Amino acid sequence: MKVRESGMPAENIWQSFFKPGQILGLLGLDERVADAVDFGCGYGTFTIPAALKVRGMVYSFDIDPQMIDATRKKALRRRLKNIRLHLCDFMSDGTGLPDASADYAMLYNILHAKEPARLLSEAFRILRPGGTAGIMHWNYDPKTPRGPPMNIRPRPEQCAQWAESAGFIIVKRHISLPPYHYGIVAQKGDNKCRLS
Ligand SMILES: C[S@@+](CC[C@H](N)C(=O)[O-])C[C@H]1O[C@@H](n2cnc3c(N)ncnc32)[C@H](O)[C@@H]1O
Repeated sequence: MKVRESGMPAENIWQSFFKPGQILGLLGLDERVADAVDFGCGYGTFTIPAALKVRGMVYSFDIDPQMIDATRKKALRRRLKNIRLHLCDFMSDGTGLPDASADYAMLYNILHAKEPARLLSEAFRILRPGGTAGIMHWNYDPKTPRGPPMNIRPRPEQCAQWAESAGFIIVKRHISLPPYHYGIVAQKGDNKCRLS
């Protein structure tokens, strides 16, 4: 089932909210990552810059054919060969990726889902030991120009708590991603910490 309140505005409006390259760096998605997974790729706002950074593949999932199409067009235009797009409902069916097969899970603007635990468990399952989950969401502030209604908008502490319940260790609890977002970096425990 489509995550509640996860429809997208026009692309130019959505893109104006982010500095994707900078955000990915702050959330630990860099050249140390081999394979990444984007849960709800939308317009490809983060899939495309992620594919330019990682050493391996970016597996991107979305329930909306228009979003898959928009991301595919960008990937083709840039001749990116390391993106695999999947039209699927990851809330109902998961990603279908094997256990422990990715290094980074992108959970960007999606944890207001009714069942965030399900999403975080799937991210935990597909990550290799030592892998990272990057969480980003709208600031808990009614003045942001968009974002889920306040009654379902998660606070950073809630996201961190959900991630811990799914088995993650929180590496960074609150990263400011101005102007409108915050980030959290969580790790699938492993003593050989790859993040600094
Ligand atoms: C708010 S948008 C965020 C897009 C992207 N992560 C970003 O931050 O630019 C959420 C995306 O998740 C997709 N989505 C919602 N529910 C989904 C589901 N159950 N399975 C797969 N994709 C889903 C929506 O179609 C939408 O493109």
